[in-house]
Amino acid sequence: MKQMHLTVNGKAVYASVEPRTHLADFLRESLNLTGTHLGCEHGVCGACTLIVDGVPVRSCITLAVACDGASVTTVEGLDHDEIAGALRAAFSREHGLQCGYCTPGMLASARDIVIRMPDATAQDIRVAMSGNLCRCTGYVGIVRAIESVISERKAKSLAPPSNPRTDVGPAGSGRAGPTAPVSAAAAPVAARAARRTEPAGAAGRVPEARRIVEPGVGAPQTTVHESFTVDHPRGEVWAFFGRLGEVATCLPGTSLLGTPTDNHIETRIRIKVGPMVSEFEGAADVVRDASSFSGVIRGTAEDARSRSSTRGEIRYALIEEQHGASTRVEVDVGFTLTGPLAQFSRSSIVHDIARRMAGAFAQNLHARLSRGRDAAGTPVAELDAGGLLVSALLSRIKRFFRGLLGR
Ligand code: FES
Ligand code: FES
Repeated sequence: MKQMHLTVNGKAVYASVEPRTHLADFLRESLNLTGTHLGCEHGVCGACTLIVDGVPVRSCITLAVACDGASVTTVEGLDHDEIAGALRAAFSREHGLQCGYCTPGMLASARDIVIRMPDATAQDIRVAMSGNLCRCTGYVGIVRAIESVISERKAKSLAPPSNPRTDVGPAGSGRAGPTAPVSAAAAPVAARAARRTEPAGAAGRVPEARRIVEPGVGAPQTTVHESFTVDHPRGEVWAFFGRLGEVATCLPGTSLLGTPTDNHIETRIRIKVGPMVSEFEGAADVVRDASSFSGVIRGTAEDARSRSSTRGEIRYALIEEQHGASTRVEVDVGFTLTGPLAQFSRSSIVHDIARRMAGAFAQNLHARLSRGRDAAGTPVAELDAGGLLVSALLSRIKRFFRGLLGR
């Protein structure tokens, strides 16, 4: 797995991907951006075309890792784009689509033509659009739609962006400029980095500003929140959170692989569900912000037996209470499973189990903090997910009967 940061439709995304993953698969399967369509998956039909750093690219033959640091815009990110809006209306008016399968790719390529070729003739448009195939409409309506948008812009004297792109560069070429879609939500990398160090927000959940993966874009499939108070001053709790090995082993079934550094740790997490045993091995990195007493632990792990993998993050924020005598710890635990085990990750039972795992983490953390450094080597019991499963089922059954009996 390889970690990368990129901007998708104006939102910062932190992701861990296999190097062989195509951009289209990453967007569709990890970020749920299914507006990017796949046809041939060989770079021929153009259905998967989207915009990377202002350049239309075939996302089926672009590796996601090649887009590290790039700005990616899919059809979902063109909702408020002026030119794409005019093109959508024109496609509709000129019958430029039927089933719509090719349309996201058509719009990405057509938008590039409108920006780059303000004097394009019908013939120019046909040549420039020859990399996008449509199986339904024929091309007359599509060409007419693009022509009409170019004419409208001329009639309204809408100048092309200054210094429009004239050459085509590879994905992630850093050519994002006037041709890159303008989004109010877009945030340059520097601004995003600065945002990560903003002071803590009000009490409650870990502030949104801490979320490297923005909600809705690559957010973990399962997220649970826990909050508890410890009778220790915030400085003491903050120091404890700096001892990564101790914090990590508060997660049931976790053991260390090697010696952790201040901001990197390698662990094994063993989870047992009945006869099934999963052993996830992986690594995590930590970003701490002393000014706001908050931090993010992000990692990935793989289970060799089931060939499943997970990426997750634990976000925490420490809030002073009782005039500094105690500290409330707000913890968000989020994770996404991929591979054969992923089929379980959406069930509500798994949410219950994840909540109990987060609860156990909070309890262990509380105990460790209360017992101080003496408890550092205390082994944490392996997660008995079978037991949790039974208890989760029991509480569900209880809820069901309570609802049935109106109590
Ligand atoms: Fe990418 Fe056909 S699906 S070019
Ligand atoms: Fe159906 Fe183009 S509208 S493939």
